[in-house]
Amino acid sequence: MSDLRVWVDGARVDPAGPAVSAVDHGVTVGDGAFETAKIEDGTPFAMTRHLARLDRTMAGLGLPAPDHDRIREGVRAVLEGEPIDFGRLRWTVTGGHGPLGSDRHDSALTYIVTASAQDRPGSHGAVVTVPWVRNERAATAGLKTTSYADNVVALARAREHGAIEAVLANTRGELCEATGSNVFVVVDGVVRTPPLDGGCLAGISRELVLEWCAADGLEVREEAMPLSVLERADEVFLTSSVKDVMPVSSVDGRPLPWPGPRTAAVRAVWDRHAAVSVDP
Ligand SMILES: Cc1ncc(COP(=O)(O)O)c(C=O)c1O
Repeated sequence: MSDLRVWVDGARVDPAGPAVSAVDHGVTVGDGAFETAKIEDGTPFAMTRHLARLDRTMAGLGLPAPDHDRIREGVRAVLEGEPIDFGRLRWTVTGGHGPLGSDRHDSALTYIVTASAQDRPGSHGAVVTVPWVRNERAATAGLKTTSYADNVVALARAREHGAIEAVLANTRGELCEATGSNVFVVVDGVVRTPPLDGGCLAGISRELVLEWCAADGLEVREEAMPLSVLERADEVFLTSSVKDVMPVSSVDGRPLPWPGPRTAAVRAVWDRHAAVSVDP
């Protein structure tokens, strides 16, 4: 990742060098929030919505409201220079210096912003289900915290199977989400996605699909479904900030059309609306 650009608490820093305290609560216990936005032609997509979700995560963690001007300063710092044609912008805000355990000091927050070019996502991908669950009753359910180790383990399992994503159920056995994507299925000709109270992240791309499809008269239902719906769905697709709307070509080895007709229709809605504004 030679093109990685990093800014920490007011200055660009060497991506390989030390820049955050060893006792930062984000490092010791994962006490922090983050956002990942897509960069296209040097510009972040849906920045306002990502900042709003960061606020929700910080509030859910009981951390102070983050300083948006500070984050925007970091974003400007990592995006200046050679424009990134396509890539990933990430900002992380942690609880700052903390004790070694789970208590908190009343510390200044730590702000980290990174940007990096990356290849555009492929046209489709395989997914597998994994045996671990999302806890929809966890204190951090639906929050984008830096405690992502569950996702690291699940995604590693997916990679072992040649898949791009791992799909998890919640504790009730309902389809929930993937490690870094929301999941949509088509059953009986209708596009459906799990509701937020099932424990999935309120994905920005998910939210835009729901809003834009509603505006264009394409029905998308938020509905609890058993994980086993993946065994009979006619189409499956993922949404995420870097993937946008991505058809799934197989689930646990069962081939699926990519894209199926409904997925193609959602993708067309996406492309039309996304072209209107970089900050919808
Ligand atoms: C657990 C999880 N679910 C869903 C998503 C998709 O959210 P978004 O569309 O905001 O990228 C992400 C994003 O990384 C995620 O980490």
